[in-house]
Amino acid sequence: MQAWAIANQKGGVGKTTTTLFLARGLAMAGHRVLLVDLDPHASLTRAFGVPGDPPPAGTHDLFGSSGATLSSLARGTSIDGLKLVAAQPALATLERRGATQPGLGLSLGRALHAVHPAFDYVLLDCPPTLGLLMINALAAADRLVVPTQTDQLALHGLADMLRTAQMVERSRRRPLPSYVLPTLYDRRTRSGIHNLDLLHDRYEGRVWPAAVPVDTRLRDANALTQAAPITGRGADAYRRALAWLLAQSDAAQRQAA
Ligand SMILES: Nc1ncnc2c1ncn2[C@@H]1O[C@H](COP(=O)(O)OP(=O)(O)OP(=O)(O)O)[C@@H](O)[C@H]1O
Ligand SMILES: [Mg+2]
Repeated sequence: MQAWAIANQKGGVGKTTTTLFLARGLAMAGHRVLLVDLDPHASLTRAFGVPGDPPPAGTHDLFGSSGATLSSLARGTSIDGLKLVAAQPALATLERRGATQPGLGLSLGRALHAVHPAFDYVLLDCPPTLGLLMINALAAADRLVVPTQTDQLALHGLADMLRTAQMVERSRRRPLPSYVLPTLYDRRTRSGIHNLDLLHDRYEGRVWPAAVPVDTRLRDANALTQAAPITGRGADAYRRALAWLLAQSDAAQRQAA
């Protein structure tokens, strides 16, 4: 089993959309995939039509004493081979508890360890904040995927994110291969093209050599949670991005062996 964290401290860069497309692609290729929604705003959970009231059982239960496991919390979806652990608003309260309750940063890692043989891939959709939930994901993940836009502010956000990942990597003493995925790319803007070049120079080898374009067909997250195929430039780009990520991930595995 391999866990991929999809994270960026910056909001609205396409994390949830990326998580959905990678998960769809992996499940449709025959892998057993588990999605874990770590964002208290629960966009991924809502996209799958899970009602928020009353709050569903989900990720928050991993941090308590209920004995809930990822297997017991995983619910089926309309896509074969794809299961989801829902997010609840109560996740937001964990940030406060984390300061006083030692060991809370490793809860997800322990839960993943226990679910190990049941899935081939676990994808962790992170909130856009550097807090306990993201730290849990970075501490537990085998790979990090960082979707980023290509404007100037986003490049600063990306640098912050990769610094955070490096810090976690040092403290857990296990490599965290990290990959950058340019998203929401508009090739009509000169700054977009310039910043994409900058990205490749700065993070050589770790940036997907293309970009996911702005595509209005990707705006409807509910459509992305249905089994029907999705066509268009955005979906095609995500298919190629997944193939690249799998190749990079295999190369990292071989290097580590
Ligand atoms: N390639 C794309 N083309 C057009 N719209 C997109 C594309 N990627 C994402 N979007 C839209 O942009 C918005 C933000 O995307 P998304 O929710 O995936 O970002 P996020 O990083 O998960 O946001 P948050 O930080 O709030 O969790 C959503 O409305 C989504 O549908
Ligand atoms: Mg999101």
